Amino acid sequence: MPEEPIDNVYRGNLARLLEKVRDERGLDLKQYRTRYVERRVAVRLSAVGVRTYQQYAAYLDKHPGEYAKLLDALTINVTQFFRDPTVYEVFRRDVIPALLETKRARHQRIVRLWSAGCATGEEPYSLAMSMLDGIARTRSDASLLTVIGTDIDTTALAVAKRGEYPVRELQHIPSFDQRRYVDTAGEVFRLKPEVMRVCRFRYLNLFESPPIHGIDIVFCRNVFIYFNREDQERMVGAFWEALTRGGYLVLGRSERLAPAIARRFEIVSSRERIFRKPPKLL
Ligand SMILES: C[S@@+](CC[C@H](N)C(=O)[O-])C[C@H]1O[C@@H](n2cnc3c(N)ncnc32)[C@H](O)[C@@H]1O
Repeated sequence: MPEEPIDNVYRGNLARLLEKVRDERGLDLKQYRTRYVERRVAVRLSAVGVRTYQQYAAYLDKHPGEYAKLLDALTINVTQFFRDPTVYEVFRRDVIPALLETKRARHQRIVRLWSAGCATGEEPYSLAMSMLDGIARTRSDASLLTVIGTDIDTTALAVAKRGEYPVRELQHIPSFDQRRYVDTAGEVFRLKPEVMRVCRFRYLNLFESPPIHGIDIVFCRNVFIYFNREDQERMVGAFWEALTRGGYLVLGRSERLAPAIARRFEIVSSRERIFRKPPKLL
């Protein structure tokens, strides 16, 4: 049998390693460019002192803490205003008006959103701007809006609470939101008081049962990486409990719901990973 070219052997093993990460952590890294992943994984290989993907896979089995370091090395602990704009398109076009309509029918004015794993705050502020805009557009009387951002990283939470960001981040905020919800001063910009007023930040470890209830929309995006399958399922179970009937759950683009819990949710957009707790439970 002719020998496989060495490059293919390594590529094959990398694919297996990525499958392992997907199976263990539910995160599909195939969307990243192969060369990029190769370079980043190489950093971890040399950090732990192994030479092949296979040895590294064995190392991961022995040291599950290495998953977080691998995923950090892939720099996916970053965030952005309106990260994945198509998610926000569907969110603003379909989810917000439907939720506000439900609120109107139920004569409820309280709307509560939760950004679980909010990092430095860009996600909760994006949610706040989207909701304030949706409320204005639909002339909704859902005037009691709160967006709760939680994280375990207290340094990130301190940045979130300030609500001040470098101007280069403005490029991710749609121009009509910039005009209405942002004040720019030199090299930085601040979210306007109208946005700051509805946002709350607090420390919360998702490994523990989150004592949060009455939530209409949970965004938990790009956080699954830190959890094994079992903890992911437990966490989604906690979101289910936290959600109001007809409430929404939004996951990251490469994250999947375990089949057992997926059956309980309705799918709003499989591409954008938007799910809904049925308004009427059987
Ligand atoms: C990659 S960032 C995602 C930020 C944002 N959701 C987004 O999609 O842009 C992941 C965040 O999850 C937080 N995190 C990790 N483990 C956590 C835990 N056990 N409880 C709460 N937050 C956690 C990290 O501190 C980090 O800020």
